[in-house]
Amino acid sequence: MTGESNDDAILHASDVWVGVKVGKNIKPIVQGGQLVVPRGGILGLVGESGSGKTQFVRAVMGLSSLEPGVITGSAVYSVDGAEPIDVLQDIDEYSPFRPPRDGELYPQRQRIGWGWLMWRRRFRKRLAMLRKLGVGFIFQNPMGALNPFLNVGSQIGEAVRVARPDATKADMEAGAIEWLAQVHLKAEKETLALYPHELSGGMAQRVMIALALAAEPKFVVADEPTTGLDSHIRREVVGLLHRIMKGGELSGIVISHDLPMVAKLCDKLTVMYRGRVIEVGPIDALGDQDAPNHPYTRMLKERAEDLARGRHGGVVRVGTASPDATGVTVAAGCIYRRRCLVYETGLVEKADCDKVQPGLTPIAENHEVACHADDQKVLSDLAAISTQAHMQQLDEKDFYPDGIPRRGQADG
Ligand SMILES: Nc1ncnc2c1ncn2[C@@H]1O[C@H](COP(=O)(O)OP(=O)(O)OP(=O)(O)O)[C@@H](O)[C@H]1O
Ligand code: SF4
Ligand SMILES: [Mg+2]
Repeated sequence: MTGESNDDAILHASDVWVGVKVGKNIKPIVQGGQLVVPRGGILGLVGESGSGKTQFVRAVMGLSSLEPGVITGSAVYSVDGAEPIDVLQDIDEYSPFRPPRDGELYPQRQRIGWGWLMWRRRFRKRLAMLRKLGVGFIFQNPMGALNPFLNVGSQIGEAVRVARPDATKADMEAGAIEWLAQVHLKAEKETLALYPHELSGGMAQRVMIALALAAEPKFVVADEPTTGLDSHIRREVVGLLHRIMKGGELSGIVISHDLPMVAKLCDKLTVMYRGRVIEVGPIDALGDQDAPNHPYTRMLKERAEDLARGRHGGVVRVGTASPDATGVTVAAGCIYRRRCLVYETGLVEKADCDKVQPGLTPIAENHEVACHADDQKVLSDLAAISTQAHMQQLDEKDFYPDGIPRRGQADG
């Protein structure tokens, strides 16, 4: 749990486990995740590719499509003027799996009765209520999310009608044109007549943003809203999101590798590593070089600086390969220890790191890290140690401590 008061959270998700079937086992790709999005605030969710960001957020939005999907957890939305809704209510009772207990490596099967059929019906009802309260998505892949058979005008027009159910056809068209202007596209009928395949990547991204926001959501999730855009368009799209997200009452989550964008758009930070939330804090913890951080966040920050200096291509990625959350088990000490500078340099009791995966612990007001070295000084002095030299010695095998099978191996 965070140290921050959660009373004014629009979304409070806790202890969320998501699993995927790999071989004979169900591997946890999100392990006990928590997310707290303050009302009117934007949360930045960061972590390397494969750390579980998208699957976590999909789970708390009721969109999880993996088998078996969500295993347990709660995701309570408290939207103004409405009763709080827990989208995942009672899921632990009706999921065919439960999280691993002490000494178990994988989630285990559990018996469920026919009650799950009723549960599904209640789940759909809760989701419908949530949509009615106003939730919008800006997906990772706009081309995949736009309907290829409908032109831009019909798609944005429908979104306008969600916000204003009594809108006439003319209102929908006028509303769609207004939104084209908002996202800096040519605000004219010709643009409304375009189909998704006629749009460039940057245009599709803006149409996706217009589509998500035209329904006037109170809560919006933007998953990698700038991936695949060139730097000029990326700047424009970030400027646009900044204007919209910082200007109103909107709450939401921005998922991204792009740390400077997260620092610009968000108020709060959540960092994931291999399926676990390993840091929760104010956004300043990302921008301030002297702020104490989890050793992994510190490394992400240094990589972001390299990126800014042009020494690194594309996304923020550490080492020669990115970690894959499906290769993670839960009983092998701190999941980060094979890459951890604090561990390597002996600034922490190594035996603790070898045995126990640490939970989130407060290190400052509203700031928590999952690390046995919860000493402020240790966690802020890391910049002095050469991350670059350390990382050059690592290769892919180091991401998988002994005894933890990789994805696709015989036992998993
Ligand atoms: N449909 C699927 N079937 C099996 N495994 C999956 C599936 N989708 C995701 N995974 C696994 O779950 C892990 C987490 O995936 P997720 O897409 O949430 O990562 P992410 O942090 O959003 O990465 P990215 O930054 O690349 O979008 C991945 O390592 C992937 O191997
Ligand atoms: S618990 Fe130990 S290994 Fe894990 S991040 Fe902290 S110091 Fe490093
Ligand atoms: Mg993703």
